[in-house]
Amino acid sequence: MNQLLVSWYRQAARDLPWRRTRDPYAIWLSEIMLQQTRVETVIPYYYRFLEALPNVAALAEAEEALLHKLWEGLGYYSRVRNLQKAAKQVMTLYGGQIPTTCDQLLNLCGIGDYTAGAVASIAFGEAVPAVDGNVLRVVSRQLAAEGDILSPAVRRSCRQLLLEQMPADCPGELNQALMDLGATICLPNGFPKCESCPISGLCLARERGQQQLFPVKSPKKARESKPYTVLVIQDEQGRFLLRQRPDTGLLASLWEFPMLEGHLTRAELTGTLTKQDIQPARIQTLRKARHIFTHLEWEMTGYFLSCPQVKPRDGEVLATWEQIQQQYAMSSALDSYRQFIKQQGEDET
Ligand code: ADE
Repeated sequence: MNQLLVSWYRQAARDLPWRRTRDPYAIWLSEIMLQQTRVETVIPYYYRFLEALPNVAALAEAEEALLHKLWEGLGYYSRVRNLQKAAKQVMTLYGGQIPTTCDQLLNLCGIGDYTAGAVASIAFGEAVPAVDGNVLRVVSRQLAAEGDILSPAVRRSCRQLLLEQMPADCPGELNQALMDLGATICLPNGFPKCESCPISGLCLARERGQQQLFPVKSPKKARESKPYTVLVIQDEQGRFLLRQRPDTGLLASLWEFPMLEGHLTRAELTGTLTKQDIQPARIQTLRKARHIFTHLEWEMTGYFLSCPQVKPRDGEVLATWEQIQQQYAMSSALDSYRQFIKQQGEDET
């Protein structure tokens, strides 16, 4: 199987920027960005990040606000905070040199089995597997594996199986071949392109005509849905009120428009604003928006409030549109409302 996959990879590999370098820092960065994120989304972020912070030392010393700006829109922000913590560990524990073995990499913040395996095999040639969702799907179809793909036991046995088969001379290529096979041929949900698969002759699911039955997935729990009312508050000088989220939990330390729990009618909103001593000269209803996180979704309604006087409280600032773009990183959950103020700025000029 290995030889078939590696020869296929050598002629069919996707041409991706992190495959044109041997720099372990760049490879590590790419693997962190690629967690739960599509290749096409990652590419521009990858270039921009490396340009701003070209090595471990620069990353270790970067300001948090810059890190958040470089990650803005990629989601899962704990990834970039852990990346910086790990860079600091590399500076203090390893004299600025990224450690070269899977076991050592596992000691760094934000690096689990998958990332350690990917970096160790791709950047340093260690014969260890890198099992992500794509790889699990390929292997589970190959073996027609009965266990739930999300169970730790299935992941462990997949890792063990691959570990026993890792080629000593090209483990990075085999791992990336499996990733590419999962991303381009052994597709999820429905129809894998078995006619183009270099290892279809070895696939038990295909032999039985049961590609659709694998991988086995238990039904997911429904996502919790939370209603919010987003307030886009603008003062007389055209600045917008932003507040910083707490430094732990969902979207930690990112900036947002003030949000109230629940969907408030205009009358309820006016009542709440009067209590908080906010007196808008004008109120406009904004579009509804929805944002889906992994385990949660926000169902948002919004209002634009034009207020002569706005007094920021603790953890709040008044920011112009330019400052919002340059300094204050916000989650893409609020894109619809950010889009509204962008549009407004354009209409005024
Ligand atoms: N997904 C995760 N790591 C990857 C890699 N090195 N190449 C392509 N897709 C990936």
